[in-house]
Amino acid sequence: MLITLEGIEGAGKSSQVQAAVAFVRAAGRACVATREPGATDLGRRIRRILLDPACAGIDPGAELLLYLADRVEHVQRVIRPALARGQVVICDRYVDATLAYQGAARGLGAELIERLHAIVLGDWRPGLTLLIDIPVEVGLARAWGAVDRGERSGAETRFENEDKDFHERVRRGYLDLAAREPARYCVIDGNRPPGEVARDIQAAIAGRLHIPCPDRGGNG
Ligand code: TMP
Repeated sequence: MLITLEGIEGAGKSSQVQAAVAFVRAAGRACVATREPGATDLGRRIRRILLDPACAGIDPGAELLLYLADRVEHVQRVIRPALARGQVVICDRYVDATLAYQGAARGLGAELIERLHAIVLGDWRPGLTLLIDIPVEVGLARAWGAVDRGERSGAETRFENEDKDFHERVRRGYLDLAAREPARYCVIDGNRPPGEVARDIQAAIAGRLHIPCPDRGGNG
């Protein structure tokens, strides 16, 4: 099964992906962590362009196609082979990021993005999407804090540099997607200590994978 984590900058996805992988493995299931953009050789090159603040002002359509190029390579070389081996794949961002950032925030709309994905990927939907939702001010403060502490490179801050309205549109875009597909989405309040967020993520994953959920002592 493909499980994706989504959220605005500073939502805490990356550390939650690691915790989620450890949880699934502890339940005896083979599981790999991956991310977009940048999980393949080509993807790492594309990621450098997409996140470079010196590339501010890329045309939204060109930006969309670069994310799509990264994704096609990722799906063909990493995600599909892992799923074919029976592994659980936990991915830090996926198509919903494109729908929220390029579709909602850049204004390209969902229809174009869904059509392009249908052409190049066919059925792209994950089995479960965890949206870690936080207020924009909180997320941006955390994201810039990570840059200040050297945990994130200043060469990867093109989106952090977007204005608050842009990030509000991303957040709203994600929440709209979640409201449209409640069966696939699980919205998690990310404005809490990481351990509490991790427990909610584990509960959602346990329910979907039918593995024991420690907090509930059963099958989720
Ligand atoms: P991250 O890997 O640190 O989350 O940074 C990836 C950035 O790229 C983040 O600002 C969100 C953005 N992004 C898009 O705009 N569209 C996409 O399809 C994806 C996967 C990410």
